[in-house]
Amino acid sequence: MSKLKIAVQKSGRLHDDSMTILKDVGISIDNGKDQLKASAKNFPLEVFYLRNGDIPQYLKDGVVDAAIIGENVLIEKGNGISVIEKLGFSSCKVSIAVPKSSNYKSIIDLEGKRIATSYPNTVNQFLNQNNVNAKLHIINGSVEIAPNIGLADAIVDIVSSGSTLFKNGLKEVDILLQSQAVLAVSPLINSENQNILNKLQFRLQSVLRGRQ
Ligand code: PRP
Ligand code: MG
Repeated sequence: MSKLKIAVQKSGRLHDDSMTILKDVGISIDNGKDQLKASAKNFPLEVFYLRNGDIPQYLKDGVVDAAIIGENVLIEKGNGISVIEKLGFSSCKVSIAVPKSSNYKSIIDLEGKRIATSYPNTVNQFLNQNNVNAKLHIINGSVEIAPNIGLADAIVDIVSSGSTLFKNGLKEVDILLQSQAVLAVSPLINSENQNILNKLQFRLQSVLRGRQ
């Protein structure tokens, strides 16, 4: 019998809540995240534990049928991937932050400046919309350190509690987008697995209603 292949974050801020929502819909998964793949005991589902940034490509290629993923990651690299359900957890923003002492008034103030980010497409789109030219430094993590080491004048990164900004002497000055965990589907899913996904989505919807 066919199984729905679903990607979840291997580790990081979405992992635990992703596993909890699968448990809450009554799906029990055999093993922990040390293995990269696990099967559900009581539902035709295989879980693949993947790096966040790799998930959009796996969806595009149809390597997985669906994913629980941050909307921000899909916006950055998931063009053509549909979101079928917002899951209501792991809310965050993708924001511009600058040193506390900066007198940033608007995005225009970043003309000709250096911006460090892990979200170059999202930033470029925002810059283009506002007719601002800036130089991007693409880094994969610990972006908030960049202004302190003289690498950038501003950053664009995820803000959740705001504590990472605070600890690094930065302040949030503009919000590019709001994000949360979503259920996304591959454009290449076959009809058998689409039926399984429909059942999963139906169960998720009733859990989400119960959480409200
Ligand atoms: C994320 C993100 C921010 C921080 C935001 O980093 O890149 O740095 O969390 O959360 P906060 O507003 O609650 O402080 P993460 O710790 O996941 O690691 P990374 O930057 O190395 O990917
Ligand atoms: Mg970080």
